[in-house]
Amino acid sequence: MKTIGVVTPGGDAPGMNAAIRAVTRIAHSRKLQVIGFERGWDGLLTNNFKRLTPRAVGGIIQLGGTMLHTLRCPKFEEKEGVKKAAETLAANNVDGLVVIGGDGSFRGALDLSRESRTLMVGIPATIDNDVFGTEETIGFDTAVNTAVKAIDQIRDTAISHERIFIVEVMGRKRGFLALDVGITVGAEVILVPENECKMTEIIGVLKENERKGKKTGIIVAAEGVGDTAAIAKQIEKQTGSEVRLSILGYAQRGGSPTARSRLLAGLFAEKAVDLLCQEQGNKVVGLKNGAVANIDIAESCKKRKPLDLRLLKLAEMLAI
Ligand code: F6P
Repeated sequence: MKTIGVVTPGGDAPGMNAAIRAVTRIAHSRKLQVIGFERGWDGLLTNNFKRLTPRAVGGIIQLGGTMLHTLRCPKFEEKEGVKKAAETLAANNVDGLVVIGGDGSFRGALDLSRESRTLMVGIPATIDNDVFGTEETIGFDTAVNTAVKAIDQIRDTAISHERIFIVEVMGRKRGFLALDVGITVGAEVILVPENECKMTEIIGVLKENERKGKKTGIIVAAEGVGDTAAIAKQIEKQTGSEVRLSILGYAQRGGSPTARSRLLAGLFAEKAVDLLCQEQGNKVVGLKNGAVANIDIAESCKKRKPLDLRLLKLAEMLAI
């Protein structure tokens, strides 16, 4: 192993920069060269990269986003694109590629591994926390904290106006973000795609709360549950209460990474570089029972990470 490439192909997540920095410096300490491909897979299609030295990654640990930039790249989804990317890796003698991103990025890495001799290792970084093979992804903790801070502020208005708020959080098709955010803001209702919740149940909870003297409520909804504006209208109609919708959106994806996200970046980077130094490829690093571990990238791409639905019961008990 002489040269390692780094790429951030999917949506940015807070802590990606900390991971780029950590991979670069750990690799440097093992006498390896590091290059960073710019704008995700596009950088491999256009041979666009920069040398990453320990100094080149200074001053970024606290920054959200990715210094390498990112781009959704449809060309890479075609066979020709993948072949071109493999040629770029070969032309630059890249022995190992560290792919920092989510399951979409790892699917891309798996495709690329079928055309390339370069060893691939994935570092999970996404606010969605939906990567199989790790209990937590880089950026998740930051996004949870960002959403919690925003909802605590929304709660002030909810209480003052005795209103019900639906707050939509990101998460793509999964409810990891909504569940942790919902529990930690004391949400009265949490809506996740993994658990079908009927309108009658939501209305039941809100009416029971009103009967107990609780005229306000926060419903945390994952974007994956569908049309939250329509849900808000339905609730307004059926309860007669004022209902407001607040979509947190991209504010959750940016911002300075928490200590937790930065720490995971360091731990995952060390494992990724170790694996490459041992000539092990096609792996995704992650946390298993709180310790750093790794699984095959194909398994990570194939399996669906389960959401702990018992936590919905806990949230219910905590919000009476
Ligand atoms: O995967 C991260 C994420 O922010 C999801 O939560 C969201 O559904 C999606 O990316 C948005 O993607 P885009 O950046 O393409 O709008």
